Amino acid sequence: DPTLQPHRTAYHFQPPKFWMNDPNGPMYYNGVYHLFYQYNPRESVWGDGKLSWGHSISYNLVDWVHLENAINPTDPFDINGCWSGSATILPDGTPAILYTGCDPEKRQVQNLAVAKNASDPYLREWIKSDHNPLLAPVDDIKGDYFRDPTTAWQGPDGKWRLIVGSEICGHGTALLYHSEDFVSWTKSHRPLHFSKRTKMWECPDFYPVSVNGTNGLDTSVIDRSSKHVLKASFNDHDYYVIGAYEPETDAFSVDTDFMDDNVQLRYDYGVFYASKTFYDNAKRRRILWGWVTEADGESDDTKKGWSGLQSFPRSILLDESGKQLTQWPIREIESLRTEEVNIQNKEIEGGAEFEITGITASQADVEVSFHIPNLDDAELLLREWRDPEALCRIKNASAGGKIGPFGLMVLASDNLAEHADIFFRIYKGNDKHVVLMCSDQSRSSLREEVEKTTYGAFIDVDPSQNLSLRSLIDHSIIESFGGRGKTCITARAYPKVAVGNAARLYAFNYGTESIVISSLSAWSMKPAQLSPLHERTKSQ
Ligand code: FRU
Repeated sequence: DPTLQPHRTAYHFQPPKFWMNDPNGPMYYNGVYHLFYQYNPRESVWGDGKLSWGHSISYNLVDWVHLENAINPTDPFDINGCWSGSATILPDGTPAILYTGCDPEKRQVQNLAVAKNASDPYLREWIKSDHNPLLAPVDDIKGDYFRDPTTAWQGPDGKWRLIVGSEICGHGTALLYHSEDFVSWTKSHRPLHFSKRTKMWECPDFYPVSVNGTNGLDTSVIDRSSKHVLKASFNDHDYYVIGAYEPETDAFSVDTDFMDDNVQLRYDYGVFYASKTFYDNAKRRRILWGWVTEADGESDDTKKGWSGLQSFPRSILLDESGKQLTQWPIREIESLRTEEVNIQNKEIEGGAEFEITGITASQADVEVSFHIPNLDDAELLLREWRDPEALCRIKNASAGGKIGPFGLMVLASDNLAEHADIFFRIYKGNDKHVVLMCSDQSRSSLREEVEKTTYGAFIDVDPSQNLSLRSLIDHSIIESFGGRGKTCITARAYPKVAVGNAARLYAFNYGTESIVISSLSAWSMKPAQLSPLHERTKSQ
């Protein structure tokens, strides 16, 4: 009931109720997409950590059927929780899951489960291996710093490799293991990578990306011209580095390291954590899922009866520059688009805003492309403005400027007492223009007790070309993609008034210089179908 659940999403993945965190073991198998996830089947909080693997399947990554849990904490090697992990499809076609279990001493160990019947299209039953635990924390590995195995990949010697997140001597580390048979694994003396600038790494991910390609690559693909991405989750964010991987020696040399003084790459500069990718061989793309937390309180979550979303799946590619990734909502999302409005070549004068009507603004997909007629008068970027998030807080939408702030006001109430603002500002840097992208939630709710964080990042684009923004708005989530997916910011908002049909959408320009909307298209979105299996079979 939307009046009782104004913040429940309509086209983002959620279980029917209770707590969800990390996406686990996403895969495409025999025509079916699978998503597993960290699930508490008892309440809307993470609680005591005795989590299960929730399981849902889909044919289009939009509509989902919820199945029974795939893995529950029932054995000594996972009795205190079945934590995050990944799926690997073995060469004989068996889908295998590697996951972290918490044992009776709350030590983290790595376990194997395989599909009981690989010809069951839903892969409903999973059998835990008799050899569990396969990996235990020995030597310098601490029992509570050893988790989240990746999808395994095969080297040219035929051996399997995988990494596990850890912290060794206080440094975030991707421990590397080798195996001939997927059951007995030996730890490599050298980790795949580590960083003295970070602590524990959670949910590492490691995969190839093609240079100048438009397709994704399967995890074991060895192609001399490709690059590799290593992602690690720490400090509440998903950071990644790009580098060259040599499969013979397992040497991984990064172009720029984690927490570099000048460049720190993140999948998303808002709320997005513990993400995982998989290769979709039906459509030859690599798809990214990320956990989006709630920003209201625990008591709200208990009242709502649920907590946690998954981002809309994004396809992920190496940017033309080779220096970063780009992400874009998978094209299946377009099947949800209904009523459409279009605007072309409309100037927005400095200090003006206008409402975009004709769609359901609480459940929408908006794509806009801005043209900046005159860049000459851009303000100077001061040297002390190095932190883009801090800059977005100071220079919020109500702090005037020259070129920008311009962008969208979403989940807005009619008197603008509530609104979230996604906008750009253009500055003059040392030798080129600098584009700042912000997602400001500070006025997104009249409720005082919810978090209203402002996020921001610089985007590596040339503002003399058109500057694009896409926002997926879904009741309490706003996923924004700047510069065709070069910079992504996911935010949460819990409006009190701007809910359901009362929510509005505006375009604005509070700089002094005019801006032109070269094109804007916005769509109402139909709800995705998420249902338990028994309801599905009844209605079909
Ligand atoms: C990340 C994480 C993982 C762990 C899981 C437990 O959010 O802490 O490291 O496996 O969640 O639910």
